Amino acid sequence: MITHKIAVIAGDGIGPEVIAEGVKVLNKAAELDGTFAFQFDYFPWGCNYYLQHGRMMAEDGLQTLENYDAIFLGAVGDPKVPDHISLWDLLLVIRKHFDQYINLRPVKLLQGAPCPLKDVKREDIDMTFVRENSEGEYAGSGAWLYKDQPNEVVIQNGVFSRKGCERVIRYAFELAKKEHKTLTSISKGNALNYSMVFWDQIFKEVAAEYPEVETHAYLVDAASMFMVKDPKRFEIVVTSNLFGDILTDLGAAISGGMGLAAGANLNPERNHPSMFEPIHGSAPDIAGMGLANPLATIWSAAQMLEFFGHQEWSDKIIATIEQMLVEKKCLTPDLGGTAKTGEVGDAFAALLSR
Ligand code: NAD
Ligand code: IPM
Ligand code: MN
Repeated sequence: MITHKIAVIAGDGIGPEVIAEGVKVLNKAAELDGTFAFQFDYFPWGCNYYLQHGRMMAEDGLQTLENYDAIFLGAVGDPKVPDHISLWDLLLVIRKHFDQYINLRPVKLLQGAPCPLKDVKREDIDMTFVRENSEGEYAGSGAWLYKDQPNEVVIQNGVFSRKGCERVIRYAFELAKKEHKTLTSISKGNALNYSMVFWDQIFKEVAAEYPEVETHAYLVDAASMFMVKDPKRFEIVVTSNLFGDILTDLGAAISGGMGLAAGANLNPERNHPSMFEPIHGSAPDIAGMGLANPLATIWSAAQMLEFFGHQEWSDKIIATIEQMLVEKKCLTPDLGGTAKTGEVGDAFAALLSR
């Protein structure tokens, strides 16, 4: 029996509500399988912790997390704490410290999921975003000069290293090769005349090593238009940190909404724990009301199972999400249902048992 040690950071807002259902499903999969188990250790970090202790996580939080096989995160952010503090001192510091430089975000329209686009079939929206997750526009490099003076200046630098660009682009090529898919790079070399010209150059260099992979490249403005007008153009997509952030919320909008959008923050070398989370935020507008859709978190649990080598359970969970979407018997209001968060998790675990 193998035991996967998971650090759970439920976080703020709807985070604890959706994480409870993700844990429920992971435990059910382990119970049904019988060859693996989970040990969940809960850390009460987040905005309430900040309001009590003046920090988002314990002082030795990162050392503590280092001992786990994975991190399962709900959401971070509360109107009582400035977002740049809460996110930088918890979510972003974890991604960077553990070199989780790959952010894998499926954008797949499952059967039964609502889609605001006209005339699209399930197979027309079937993408995997490979978002750069360690540097770029999120490098945190800059300055705030002459604060509150008339000549005030702020500088926010984008940092694109050869190593950082190469490794994420190479990862995307390997994925495209393995899955026999096309690979699309999304950048903005016409305006960002250093960073994105460099990105495009590295994409071409790495492409030369993968003659078997069909490639495409779009400017980010056109890409966002085509994601709406002709989403079947995109299969595997590789892009920078900020573009990947924005385009995957757009991806969520065309494939069932924020309540279905999952993400894995991977350290592919497995030198450090990887982190699995829904891509949505803490949704303060619906927090504490049982309205949150837990399916995005459950999908990220499927990504965790895949990362641990339990591919069949990962596939089963995604198939069960699809079954629930088709049956429409137990869904939260964002998907047109009346079920509470916990009822969706219970129904899910029951379906998985069958
Ligand atoms: P959000 O994703 O929290 O919410 C956007 C909209 O989607 C809201 O109307 C919300 O009710 C809805 N929504 C989100 N998840 C849902 C779910 N599971 N079920 C049903 N509806 C859902 O984005 P926001 O409002 O821009 O941000 C709120 C806070 O979350 C901010 O503090 C922000 O910084 C933070 N945030 C955190 C993360 C994270 O922890 N990974 C991600 C994004 C935003
Ligand atoms: C996401 C979130 C984060 C990001 C924020 C909360 C820092 O929007 O995971 O998509 O921009 O990466
Ligand atoms: Mn985002």
